[in-house]
Amino acid sequence: MQDTWNPEQYDRFLAERSRPFYDLVALIQPKANLRILDLGCGTGALTKYLHETLAAHETIGLDASANMLEKAHPFTGDGLRFTSGQIEGTLPDGAFDLIVSNAALQWVPKHRDLLTNFKQKLRPGGQLAIQIPAMDNDPVHTLAAETARDFSQPLHGYVHQFEVLLPEQYAHLLYQLGFVEQTVRLQLYGHVLPSREAVLDWYRGSLLTDYQRRLDAATFEQFVARYWETLCPYLNDDRPFFFPYKRILMWGRLD
Ligand SMILES: C[S@@+](CC[C@H](N)C(=O)[O-])C[C@H]1O[C@@H](n2cnc3c(N)ncnc32)[C@H](O)[C@@H]1O
Repeated sequence: MQDTWNPEQYDRFLAERSRPFYDLVALIQPKANLRILDLGCGTGALTKYLHETLAAHETIGLDASANMLEKAHPFTGDGLRFTSGQIEGTLPDGAFDLIVSNAALQWVPKHRDLLTNFKQKLRPGGQLAIQIPAMDNDPVHTLAAETARDFSQPLHGYVHQFEVLLPEQYAHLLYQLGFVEQTVRLQLYGHVLPSREAVLDWYRGSLLTDYQRRLDAATFEQFVARYWETLCPYLNDDRPFFFPYKRILMWGRLD
């Protein structure tokens, strides 16, 4: 399937998309000589920020998109590097002091298995820091799924399923996995966008890419038009447009 991640489209909302990452990094307990793994590192800009802020010994950014990694590779150096791979696949060799994932796990199912796997890759005292959008019940997501059902023929019945758990389920999971300290919170980011049309632009850089790679260009534009037609009545025609965006931030530390 084609790689529809587009760093330029994604970075159009760089400031809004970076804020939760800075909040996530603020939860991490700094330590000397950390070995860090950033899962779904994207363009690598935030991985570089993480590596430098924590003065890490080694940081590996992993991503499945060649387009995103192409942007990331120039940041390589001084202990920072990037590799191609699947979050749900075999992770880079060795154990880590910190595993981070920002706005990527919503693309991957079976979070209980995933977090169990991450825990197994952590050294004693290791930390996990994850940020995931929690918009599953918002019209921006439910109407994308509804549109997908309208396009079931070209999509061969595919509907993007989100499997994000509730904050309390992550808290339980971290506890069960042996994270002796944790913070899990649902945070609402009030993004001020120029107009409601920017919401469509926002999703062209994320959720809609999953439909884009399954449809030819013309059908994808019909998909986007249909999605917008159904979504638009749910959004106030305000300029600027206030876009409340829910995210789960979680952090845990092993003994
Ligand atoms: C929304 S971007 C976030 C990028 C970066 N963490 C940031 O905050 O700027 C999600 C990234 O996750 C990657 N991704 C999605 N599913 C993946 C998977 N199963 N394995 C590896 N990377 C994945 C995408 O290629 C994309 O670069």
